[in-house]
Amino acid sequence: MTATQVLIGPTGGIGAVLAAAMGPGTVLLGRSTVPALDLLDEGSIAAAASSCGSGLTLVIDATGFLHDAEFQPEKSLRQIDPAHLARSFALNATGPALLMKHFLPLLARDERAVFATLSARVGSISDNRLGGWYAYRASKAALNQLVRTAAIELARTRPLAVCVALHPGTVDTGLSGPFAKNGLDVQTPAAAAAKLLTSIAGLTAERSGTLIDQNGLTIPF
Ligand SMILES: NC(=O)c1ccc[n+]([C@@H]2O[C@H](COP(=O)([O-])OP(=O)(O)OC[C@H]3O[C@@H](n4cnc5c(N)ncnc54)[C@H](OP(=O)(O)O)[C@@H]3O)[C@@H](O)[C@H]2O)c1
Repeated sequence: MTATQVLIGPTGGIGAVLAAAMGPGTVLLGRSTVPALDLLDEGSIAAAASSCGSGLTLVIDATGFLHDAEFQPEKSLRQIDPAHLARSFALNATGPALLMKHFLPLLARDERAVFATLSARVGSISDNRLGGWYAYRASKAALNQLVRTAAIELARTRPLAVCVALHPGTVDTGLSGPFAKNGLDVQTPAAAAAKLLTSIAGLTAERSGTLIDQNGLTIPF
């Protein structure tokens, strides 16, 4: 299998629409694909990456974790749970770091190539005015720092490449649905995916290492 475009997380609310929009030539990788890619298993990430070949021009990571049957976003310090923090960091920070470890070396060298991972505005420390959501906020802040650091290293060998964290806006998916508030600007996954792809298409290497919102604007860390 050789590819130029890869989408990781094709079963997600946003990932499924991105996968469709990116077209049939896109390699889709997730826990239920062949080969399987599990963020919690570096061997599976390495094997999936090596199955893609080199010369990739676009890799999008649409995975992420906010809540599950066991853990809900914390409203106060009293709810901080080490296991919740550990799961959030494993899925939102360590997992994408391993994706960068194994996929950035596969990006095309002599042309523009993009690695984009879905982060979140709430991972911005300077934008934090509401508090709460400790594990999600902190793990996305860690992701933003990992992206920044990887972008600096990537530029040494691939000056045309872009490595960014993207905020998709609030999107009606299983991840955000239980927390959507009346009056909040909630987008459909299709609208969000279209905006993300437009934003990605306009990215240049000068934007590498930043956090960018659904309209292509930089969000301060
Ligand atoms: N929705 C929003 O309003 C919103 C807002 C800001 C940021 N974001 C960010 O956007 C991204 C996508 O969000 P979404 O709403 O589309 O979430 P979602 O519907 O919950 O999708 C999450 C994706 O992550 C994958 N995933 C979870 N654990 C994994 C693992 N161990 N290995 C591989 N893949 C795994 C899931 O795959 P499985 O099917 O295998 O579980 C699924 O494809 C996330 O990073 C989220 O933080 C979303």
